[in-house]
Amino acid sequence: MNDLASAKGAAAHGGSIQLFYARSAARNRPTVDRAEGIYVWDTAGRRYIDACSGPVVSNIGHGNPRVLEAMVAQAKKVAYASRALFENQPNIDLAGLVTRLAGPGLERAFFVSGGSEATEAAIKLARQYAVTRGEAGRWKVIARDPGYHGATLGALGVTGDPDSRRLFGVQARLMPLVPAPFTYRLPPNHTADSYARHCAAELDAVIRREGADTVLAFIMEPVGGLATGALVAPDHYYRAIREICDRRGVLLIFDEVMSGAGRTGTFLAAEHWPAARPDLVTLAKGISAGYTPLGAVLAPAKMVEAVAGAGGFLHGHTYSANPLSCAIALAVVREMVERDLMGNAARMGVVLRQRLAAIKARSGILGDVRGMGLLQAIEIVSDQETKAIFPAERQAVYRIIELGIERGLLLYSRRTANGKYGEWLMVCPPLIVTEAEIDEIARLIEETLAAYEAELRKEGALR
Ligand SMILES: Cc1ncc(COP(=O)(O)O)c(C=O)c1O
Repeated sequence: MNDLASAKGAAAHGGSIQLFYARSAARNRPTVDRAEGIYVWDTAGRRYIDACSGPVVSNIGHGNPRVLEAMVAQAKKVAYASRALFENQPNIDLAGLVTRLAGPGLERAFFVSGGSEATEAAIKLARQYAVTRGEAGRWKVIARDPGYHGATLGALGVTGDPDSRRLFGVQARLMPLVPAPFTYRLPPNHTADSYARHCAAELDAVIRREGADTVLAFIMEPVGGLATGALVAPDHYYRAIREICDRRGVLLIFDEVMSGAGRTGTFLAAEHWPAARPDLVTLAKGISAGYTPLGAVLAPAKMVEAVAGAGGFLHGHTYSANPLSCAIALAVVREMVERDLMGNAARMGVVLRQRLAAIKARSGILGDVRGMGLLQAIEIVSDQETKAIFPAERQAVYRIIELGIERGLLLYSRRTANGKYGEWLMVCPPLIVTEAEIDEIARLIEETLAAYEAELRKEGALR
């Protein structure tokens, strides 16, 4: 029995999911009991404020009565029916609502069970479309480094995570990567603007190097998720990559698994850059807000028609477009629209940003605050002036998460590339958050960072 197994008192059979993870920080996680609004309680009765919506999932908060009602009503009618044998109305209604919200050029929706499945489906749909258009030579999907598009082997091929690529790369088809246009920690002699121009130029260079007629698509998160800590590039970057994709006949895929479903203040983050409309969009997480596993690919009608006309999409899962998940997500998205939660995300995003900027001015270890709407991240540094990163063995963000849990605060992080680009924590409360709750989150973040700073000073690890 390993350390963790004995720490968790593992039974001979079964046991907790944490048994699969060796990280010591995950050892003493509380056991969740219930949740309501933006609060979660553990089985010992302790309350936590959900400042991250789990891994940026619980967009409409916990325990929403309308969604629970829809869930029960649909389960009573029919929970599951095979798409091979039946149409189902929740699927049709959800596809209609989501694509109307997504806007022109994205008239069709294909529902799957999560973000990784959405990435797989987007890549396959793009590939099949290219083949039907007589461009069978196009198969490479260029992605950004770092970036994250999922854990399955196809999605891993476009995920710029060095550890996963090293371990599983032999089993996946690893695709070419271009640098992500970071804005805070920059290579020498670059400003955020010049680096974004360099990164866009790299996309063009890699397409040419690979052979433009072999490149199928470019996939990127329009507002970064965990991999880059809510990275937002300068506006000209989005125009530039759209123009490059057009010029080279390459499809542009926006992975909006984290940035979509209202999180940045608009239904899709893509709406912030109308000159860079994507050809395909993936959604998951917030689209069903944690009430059921769901993902989606949004695609142009003409692409779907072409693929259907040439024999049909050679892809699908048992749970694709299942009635229960679609009915739940329909209630989630209706709630989002009718309560103007996207508007609230835009307004509360401004407040959150102000509060985090104020903490940065007072803290010794908060280096950068970035993001859009309620998709924000704070970058942690050991020196604000030099932007120095803490030594990897400190696992600084995991310690901060622990200190937050001790104070009843939930934050989310995973060190990208073992901290090579820096380390950050996501601050992404549910879109129902109020100003008073943001104040509570800000107070707890400041206390948590101060506690970590105090620990470091005690050890003589800070100037
Ligand atoms: C941007 C992005 N794409 C894809 C995924 C994969 O989604 P899932 O974990 O639902 O498979 C994630 C998950 O964190 C994500 O953040």
